[in-house]
Amino acid sequence: MSIDINTAWDELKQKVAGCQKCGLCRTRNNTVFGEGPEINCRVVIVGEGPGADEDATGRPFVGKAGQLLTGILENGGGIPRRSLYITNIVKCRPPENRNPSREEASSCSEYLEAQLLLLHPDVVVTLGNVPTQWLLKTSQGITALRGQWINWRGILLFPMFHPSFLLRNDSRAKGSPKDLTWQDVKSLKAKIDELNKGS
Ligand code: URA
Ligand code: SF4
Repeated sequence: MSIDINTAWDELKQKVAGCQKCGLCRTRNNTVFGEGPEINCRVVIVGEGPGADEDATGRPFVGKAGQLLTGILENGGGIPRRSLYITNIVKCRPPENRNPSREEASSCSEYLEAQLLLLHPDVVVTLGNVPTQWLLKTSQGITALRGQWINWRGILLFPMFHPSFLLRNDSRAKGSPKDLTWQDVKSLKAKIDELNKGS
């Protein structure tokens, strides 16, 4: 006998859909659970929290930042978006797109933890300070941490800039956040290829 993964996923999704564990439940229109392959998942991308478009649709990274993320993955790295699991630290939109508080992240973390246990990926990509600092329990900033392969719970954690930050920093000059992100996504692709070769 082994656990029925589909039932576990269904139960988790239902729990999130009805969740009222923190104050963000009062202002959300939709919870944003996450999406991607639920089996044979190599890479999980963790963002901060839903924005307006995500709150309206119930899907992660579908607004401007999401479109940029998809472009970075697909055009920059040759990594199809649908091959990755994409979710966030909090599943409900923080009002005015503020950062989720420590309490909100803490309330919501049981869902991300369950997702990671069910997915058991090889790599977790964190986008920006919020998920990077939350998972690593560090106060180091994203500029110092991005592009590094960090051992985390026996798998690899790879911080990258958040696409919203890139929208505000449009330069493509050498050493700019966009230029560095272009390098990072190539490094991510190389890691995925290496992992696929090994299995
Ligand atoms: N920004 C995030 O961090 N997550 C989303 O899902 C969308 C925008
Ligand atoms: Fe529940 Fe997370 Fe939404 Fe808070 S953000 S209400 S903990 S699902």
